[in-house]
Amino acid sequence: MIKKAIKKIKGFCSIRNLKGIYFYIKPYKFRTLAAVLVTIPVGIMDTAIPWALKCYMDAVTSGKRSTISVYMPFLILVFSIAQSIFTYVATYVNSWVGIKISNDLKYDLFKKLMKCEASFFDRNVSGTIQVRFNNDVDTACAGLLNSLKMFSTRIFNSLSLIIALFVISWRLAIVAIVILIFALYPLTTIRKRISGIVGQTVFSGAAIATYYIEAFAGNRIITSYNLYDYQMRKISDALNYAFRLGMKMVQRTGVLSPIMHFVIGGGVAVIIWMGSYLITHNLLTAGGFVAFVTSVIMLYQPIKTIGNDFSAVQTSVMAMERVLSLLKETPAVINRKNAIQLTSVKDQIEYRNVDFEYEKGQPVLKKINISIKVGQTIALVGNSGGGKTTFVNLLPRFYDITAGKILIDGVDIRDLELDSLREKIAIVFQDNFLFTGTIRENILLGKSSASRKEINEVVKLAYLDEFVSKLPKGLHTQIGERGVLLSGGQKQRVAIARAFLKNAPVVILDEATSALDNTSEAIVQKAINNLMKDRTVFVIAHRLSTVRNADKILVINQGEITEAGTHAELIEKNDAYATLYRTQLS
Ligand SMILES: Nc1ncnc2c1ncn2[C@@H]1O[C@H](COP(=O)(O)OP(=O)(O)OP(=O)(O)O)[C@@H](O)[C@H]1O
Ligand SMILES: [Mg+2]
Repeated sequence: MIKKAIKKIKGFCSIRNLKGIYFYIKPYKFRTLAAVLVTIPVGIMDTAIPWALKCYMDAVTSGKRSTISVYMPFLILVFSIAQSIFTYVATYVNSWVGIKISNDLKYDLFKKLMKCEASFFDRNVSGTIQVRFNNDVDTACAGLLNSLKMFSTRIFNSLSLIIALFVISWRLAIVAIVILIFALYPLTTIRKRISGIVGQTVFSGAAIATYYIEAFAGNRIITSYNLYDYQMRKISDALNYAFRLGMKMVQRTGVLSPIMHFVIGGGVAVIIWMGSYLITHNLLTAGGFVAFVTSVIMLYQPIKTIGNDFSAVQTSVMAMERVLSLLKETPAVINRKNAIQLTSVKDQIEYRNVDFEYEKGQPVLKKINISIKVGQTIALVGNSGGGKTTFVNLLPRFYDITAGKILIDGVDIRDLELDSLREKIAIVFQDNFLFTGTIRENILLGKSSASRKEINEVVKLAYLDEFVSKLPKGLHTQIGERGVLLSGGQKQRVAIARAFLKNAPVVILDEATSALDNTSEAIVQKAINNLMKDRTVFVIAHRLSTVRNADKILVINQGEITEAGTHAELIEKNDAYATLYRTQLS
């Protein structure tokens, strides 16, 4: 029993960050304490049963019907009622604390998720995020609290039963304890045996969750490419893998219960054999013997099932470790100490000797040098994969550069307070994410405090007014998940309206019109022209007609600026840009 306790405590201590767990228990420490304290009577009261049996048996066998044997049934009844009430209270308080802690953890993890940098989302699939941020917390908290309750109930239960054993017969008690230690020995190896599998199981769970998410998000592609069989094969492979892992887990843990069962069965046999000897030599009464065997059986009961419980506890401890390590991870892109608030962009934005790589050793941008005066429009053109999107993503610090500097009015953007930096930049992507809700709600994301007048104005500037006025519910029309109920051009104009409302001095337009037909493009282009007015703009476009009027055009190929100048200058130069332009014109 003691070894069990040590083993259990070791299990918890091996969590590198015990402090991490305590941090979450702390706000509820009194309730947690209460939850543990109620388990004391629950555990101790079990001893009443062998004790009552002993008195009763001794009274009956000696022929003396003492008063106690008359009241015994009532006493047992009262005890079990009291025990039931305590059990209920223990479960209630435990669940209360458990759910609270789990919610706190989820809240913090979500906060963490919101602060994760772009590369985190590059590295992790959606299923992993769901499993690690949501399911793991459930596993961790449910298991943790449950095992805390189980553990404390059983420790008090076992301690009181062990004391009872020694009171009844110390000789038998020693034998029983020795057998117990043998039965518990296999448990000490379990953690090592299963830790690898638990990790793999989490990954396989994440893979399965991802397939579900993809089935939802990618359903159009799946239908149009007839990917039904392909997807079914993927999920079936994943499920088979999960099955094999599950069975491996059973192989490694499933033997424990039978082994312990065997050892304990043998132990009970030895005790009965010894007990008979003690009785015949008048070293033990019949009642004492019955009470002893009952105590031993009661003591072994939790231990017999502990093989199963233990792998559950281990699973939850490991989940807790993953959760805590996730919480400890510091995102790569964070505020520096004493970060400066960016209040306005007055003079210029400069890329100075900027190098960038997503993966170590694979440069994506090389020695980028360019400066942009406030109010200018810079166009980026070039081959696909050349690094245009990467170029603009560095400005709001989705990623931090590998070498060089990006300066706004002479200040390194890594010295600027992140929120204040991002506040100054409005981005319209090619594929804009819209949230489930109404058109109005999506536009308001640009500035939640906007007045009705402001909203109407941006709706007009984004050329949304005509479309919206035709809708029976107008701006309050639901747009479906990710805006599926809108056309591509409508979605882009909602995104443009959102960017308008943000009213940021710097605007980034990444292929904002490339997916549109000519009529829609003309409208969206007009909206974009409005958005570009009096702002510093970075515009990426494949269609060179949209970049003609830019103050400077950069041709980016394979991570390098190969040409730079105005439209006229680059045509004059008669190099790559000029060739590209002529091809598009014809
Ligand atoms: N998140 C990422 N992780 C790793 N590599 C990336 C990531 N995003 C882009 N890349 C790589 O960086 C290079 C530049 O990509 P980028 O998206 O900047 O090109 P682009 O010029 O915008 O192309 P396009 O015109 O097709 O949009 C490509 O080789 C691409 O494979
Ligand atoms: Mg791009």
